[in-house]
Formats: sequence, structure tokens, C-alpha cells
Amino acid sequence: MRIDIITCLPKLLESFFAHSILKRAQEKGIAEVHVHDLRDFTLLKHKQVDDYSYGGGAGMVLMIEPIDRCISELKSQRTYDAVIYMTPDGKTFDQQTANRFSMFTNIIILCGHYKGVDERARKAFVTHEISIGDYVLSGGELAAAVVSDALIRLIPGVLSDETSALTDSFQDSLLAPAVYTRPAEYKGMTVPEILLSGNDKEIEKWRFQSAIDRTKERRPDIYIKYTNDSGDDRKKN
Ligand code: ADE
Repeated sequence: MRIDIITCLPKLLESFFAHSILKRAQEKGIAEVHVHDLRDFTLLKHKQVDDYSYGGGAGMVLMIEPIDRCISELKSQRTYDAVIYMTPDGKTFDQQTANRFSMFTNIIILCGHYKGVDERARKAFVTHEISIGDYVLSGGELAAAVVSDALIRLIPGVLSDETSALTDSFQDSLLAPAVYTRPAEYKGMTVPEILLSGNDKEIEKWRFQSAIDRTKERRPDIYIKYTNDSGDDRKKN
């Protein structure tokens, strides 16, 4: 997968992709992330990329021309599966969307800033508008980092234990079960006996029940959806 991120604050993203799983994925050649500075694509002096909003009002708007020039240059080099615009008025990002997007080969992520981008750029170039939650960030950069991380970790070979992405919260429409590691007892606090038993079948049952209990308690909205979708008769409890 190749991700091209267009931003007017490239420095904000560079350190994020230079660490941890994302760095390893790039070193292994499984994923490539390229950050493009919108200012490199403006024809205006002083490298201006934004201007006041027509009709007045506070806040600057990113201009269409540098966005057009950057996207056109990228599209002249390869075909893109999606041009994603990060915006608080987009569709809320979730695990199902991450799963779907992780199948893409080449994507562009456009970060808004200030009041966002000229509406004509959204209409002309953007295929998906995505929000990471009902709150407003000062720009789309953190949101682009969140989406990139969620996609890249799903690509086979990125996580060392390939099954671990499958057992994440939300993959089964349930939250993930409780987990424990050594020591088996710490200051009087113990690990559930069954997890030490070596009985894989019973452990699997325990984990499933832990996932059910957590989801019921913490996210009843998800639990109701799960029982409706799976026809699980636990819903009667
Ligand atoms: N840009 C500003 N706020 C955002 C949000 N909540 N999601 C995605 N992009 C954003």
C-alpha cells in the first residue's frame, strides 16, 4: 500500500511515520507513506496556500489550485483507489471502514486546515470524506495519522503475530477480552485460573465471555447490534 498525504504542515506528520509499527512496515517494503507539502505546489509568491472565505467570516480556506496541482501530479504517476479528505463533517471512521480501505493499493489523504478546503476541491477530487469523531481538530493531520495507522496495521506481515489484528476490539463487532501477562500474582492480584490451565477450548470460551461482558457493560450500543446481527441467544440474558 502507498499512502500520499497532502498537508500544509508536513513536519507534524514526519515524526509520526518515523516510529514503531509504521516505520517497520515501511522498512519491510509493505507500506510506503509520502508526505507532500502543499506549499510546494502553489504558484503564488510567499508560498501562500490559503485565503479569506468569500462572503466573509473568520478563518482561512485552503485554495483549490495547489491541491489540484499536487493531486494531478500524483495521478500522472499512478492510479489511485481513493482520495480521502479528512474533515469533521465526513463519515465517521470505524473498523469496518478501516478493513475496507486496507484493501486499497494507492490512496491520497488530503488534510484540511483552518476552515477546511475550497468546496470545489472536495467536489472535483475527493472520493471519500472521513471524520475521526465528533470534535474539531485544528487540522486533518492527526486524523490522517490515525487513519493511516489503522490501515497499515491490517496489512498482512505488518504485525509480527498476524492473527493479532483479527482479535482486536471491533473486529468481531465486540470489544476485545481482558488480557494478562506475568507475574501470575502481583500484590495479591491474581490472573483468572483458566488462563493458566493450558486448556485451549476453555480459554477460548473464557475470552468470548469476557468480550461479551465488556461489550455489554461498556458499549451496550455495540452489544445490541452484535446480538441482532449474529442471532446470538445470549441477548435474552
Ligand atoms: N479535521 C478537523 N477535525 C477533524 C475530525 N474530527 N476528523 C477528521 N478531520 C478533521
